[in-house]
Amino acid sequence: MFGARGLCHVSAADMPAAVSMRAPIPASLRTAARSGLHLRQATFHRRRPSSIGVICNTAAKDLEATSVSGNGAARHHEVKPAKLSTTAVHGGERAGRPRVADALTTPIVQTSTYHFRNTAELIEYNEGRFESYEYGRYGNPTAQACEEKIKALEGAEDCLVSASGMNAVTSMLLSLVPSGGHIVTTSDCYWRTRQFMQNFLPKMNVGVSVIKPNDLDALQAALDQHNVTLFFSESPTNPYLRCVDIAAIARLCHAKGAAVCIDSTFATPINQQALALGADLVLHSATKYLAGHNDVLAGALCGKTELVAKVREFHHIMGGVVDPHAAYLLLRGLKTLDLRVERHNRSAMEIARRLEKHPKIDRVWYPGLESHPDHAIANRQMSGFGGVVSFEVRGGLHECISFIDNVKLPYIAPSLGGVESLIEMPAVQSYWGFGPERRAQIGIKENLVRFSIGIEDVEDIWADLEQALEYVP
Ligand SMILES: Cc1ncc(COP(=O)(O)O)c(C=O)c1O
Repeated sequence: MFGARGLCHVSAADMPAAVSMRAPIPASLRTAARSGLHLRQATFHRRRPSSIGVICNTAAKDLEATSVSGNGAARHHEVKPAKLSTTAVHGGERAGRPRVADALTTPIVQTSTYHFRNTAELIEYNEGRFESYEYGRYGNPTAQACEEKIKALEGAEDCLVSASGMNAVTSMLLSLVPSGGHIVTTSDCYWRTRQFMQNFLPKMNVGVSVIKPNDLDALQAALDQHNVTLFFSESPTNPYLRCVDIAAIARLCHAKGAAVCIDSTFATPINQQALALGADLVLHSATKYLAGHNDVLAGALCGKTELVAKVREFHHIMGGVVDPHAAYLLLRGLKTLDLRVERHNRSAMEIARRLEKHPKIDRVWYPGLESHPDHAIANRQMSGFGGVVSFEVRGGLHECISFIDNVKLPYIAPSLGGVESLIEMPAVQSYWGFGPERRAQIGIKENLVRFSIGIEDVEDIWADLEQALEYVP
């Protein structure tokens, strides 16, 4: 109904009928649209979108208010996709998304703050009777569409998108693990995550046990010995693509009241559904496959409502919000996730098999290969093995550099999961400052290459690797 200053509030259930091109549009709204009625959808951050409010901010004060409640059949339907490829395209962007100027795509809502028409409306908002956004650190419609899409892809109750993967990691750990708590993590891990857990958490009186991936006895011992709050591991891990048995770990942890968080960056929800396997939380550096184009940083955390809510509350204080432009790029990238991952999987499997047979290669680390220590686990819990292949070039640091310096197609760069192939030597890229002894201690081999296979033609990629391997003495 119309309120003060020509505002009409249409209930959540009404909104799809009001905006659908297929549903009959009520006469009053058609008139309103012709006379310059401005439709703005107000979604919200504090009360998640179980309903949608539409504000009709009209200049024609004398327009008659009409409820546009429709029956179910007339509504613009939420797409209820059965398959992940459909969810990747439509999830979070049909019913419940902002609608501006009838644009097909979700708009970039470039604002730092949101306004209220009067104090009464603000009070209604504060008391949960009016749904909107308040301030950019607390929510944004473009970012929220990303959250809804990733949430649907992971089959999660809730999702929080933030400014980077590291922001998701640190916010999750700081908000869920109390002082005096204890975490268990695995030895192969993105180095910044390891750095945070081993150097910063102990200063906050959080204990850390590091176990080998899949050493379930060590996990049980840690659970028996400490009051473990959280188990955290990547799967597959960076850079050796180790895969942890998520279901077995969840069983052990849950029996002791500990939560399980899996960093599924290398897997993506296309290849691995960590929550369905038993994890309580799944985390992504969305910078990688989710966004997929090496052009944006973002992070995502999905899982049980009460856990994500705690992290969200902390995130509102810490302020690591994703920029609306970045959120749009993530949203756009996500639409092709299934297509891209399918190509990454196929090419990586092919390259891994060929590398394994190459005389200048000592060892290949790819969970799709029978030779990988976690192949059986990966086979059980993944539907594809991802686009990263790590391998050891015959010789040491210098032989490996001879190879790297002669590849022409991949960029020599950190990161992974984008359409462009990227190649790096972890010993030089991330671990150079550690020195050879410390590198050996933490298992980073001097001749290790981490290759993120892009979506270029697989024969072009292989031809380039082959010619570069000729430079290895
Ligand atoms: C497995 C994994 N998790 C988290 C991160 C951190 O993500 P971001 O670079 O988006 O902060 C990375 C970065 O490479 C990663 O590889």
